Amino acid sequence: MIFDFSAAAAIVFSICLLPIYITAAKPAIPQGTQKLRFGKNGEFKILQVADMHFADGKTTRCLDVLPSQYPSCTDLNTTAFVERMILAEKPNLIVFTGDNIFGFDATDAAKSMDAAFAPAIASNIPWVAVLGNHDQESTLSREGVMKHVAGMKNTLSKVNPSEVHIIDGFGNYNLEVEGVEGTVFENKSVLNLYFLDSGDYSTVPSIYGYDWIKPSQQLWFQRTSLRLRKEYMHEPVPQKTPAPGLVYFHIPLPEYASFDKSNFTGVRQEGISSASVNSGFFTTLVEAGDVKAVFVGHDHLNDFCGKLAGINLCYAGGFGYHAYGKAGWWRRSRVVVASLEKTEKGWGDVKSIKTWKRRDDQHLTGIDGQVLWSKSFHGKEHNGGGS
Ligand SMILES: *[C@@H]1O[C@H](CO)[C@@H](O)[C@H](O)[C@H]1NC(C)=O
Ligand SMILES: *[C@@H]1O[C@H](CO)[C@@H](O)[C@H](O)[C@H]1NC(C)=O
Ligand SMILES: *[C@@H]1O[C@H](CO)[C@@H](O)[C@H](O)[C@H]1NC(C)=O
Repeated sequence: MIFDFSAAAAIVFSICLLPIYITAAKPAIPQGTQKLRFGKNGEFKILQVADMHFADGKTTRCLDVLPSQYPSCTDLNTTAFVERMILAEKPNLIVFTGDNIFGFDATDAAKSMDAAFAPAIASNIPWVAVLGNHDQESTLSREGVMKHVAGMKNTLSKVNPSEVHIIDGFGNYNLEVEGVEGTVFENKSVLNLYFLDSGDYSTVPSIYGYDWIKPSQQLWFQRTSLRLRKEYMHEPVPQKTPAPGLVYFHIPLPEYASFDKSNFTGVRQEGISSASVNSGFFTTLVEAGDVKAVFVGHDHLNDFCGKLAGINLCYAGGFGYHAYGKAGWWRRSRVVVASLEKTEKGWGDVKSIKTWKRRDDQHLTGIDGQVLWSKSFHGKEHNGGGS
């Protein structure tokens, strides 16, 4: 198939590489609430850190770096990359999408997590984490890991939603991002974030491979999405279309295999390691109608975004140095920014959602900028990405 350059060119926009300031970002949330809010600049920015694979810190060596890089490379390089990304982007929220620690090589799971999340905590920026398939391989169970995470400073992570009594996994929760203070959207969630536990390995003997998002979790997602849609479309200031949603978890859905380089942005350098069965969660997302993009990790050498049935399926690309990678192919991180519409009465609802990545090179080079979703002027949705 011939590469459609005009469509690709339309989705790429230049990335402004800001200088790196050495100032701590202001905490975006009052203590003790689960609410986030758009800033006075009408933007909400999320930094995704996938697969840190943190273990014992300075004694844990890097994997798959160039021969010349081995002697000076440890987990501390992962820490330095987190710090650099935070300073460069000043996000409103940091999301760690699993395999935060590499349990097999972590002597003490709690200590590894404390070290792995330390740069996020030090930044005073709210942060959350979900579990991957390696987080429980050290001294704590999946429940133990998630309980530890949820108890850490500045995190909005939850072990599980309080309104649900039975749900599979640990680390299923949602966050609501309200409009700018002083505008008509100040009490409405204009951007919805969902976090799910995609599990580790199948426990069903006849099904091999990785785990999947279970019916109990999908039901919780459906109910939460429905509640948020109703609230958004009702008084005060009822809206005609639902607020956009973004979903974060670890293991890709089988639908990530729907693309090739003619219809994704980024690279695919390895297979799609999803579960060997299809849980139907993609269909659930399409049916709910509010979700515009899904963000996962797990496959460190894939970093693309492709759009299927109106939903962008995105990888972040591998971040951690004690994770498999490809020597000479930079570790990377994904940024998403939602921008509000500017109206005569101040900031309105979400107008567009953009993404880019930065490589851990000397300049933190920004790559693959693209519009994931945008709302037309009259409130009609249209595809921001390629067709
Ligand atoms: C790891 O960090 C050390 C110390 O700052 C640095 O010299 C080295 O270049 C880094 N390695 C990589 C692969 O970034
Ligand atoms: C938002 O809620 C606060 C507190 O209840 C209220 O004072 C304010 O008027 C509300 N704003 C709007 C736009 O409804
Ligand atoms: C991407 O393009 C390939 C052909 O190159 C096609 O088989 C596939 O269905 C396309 N995927 C989507 C999601 O459009």
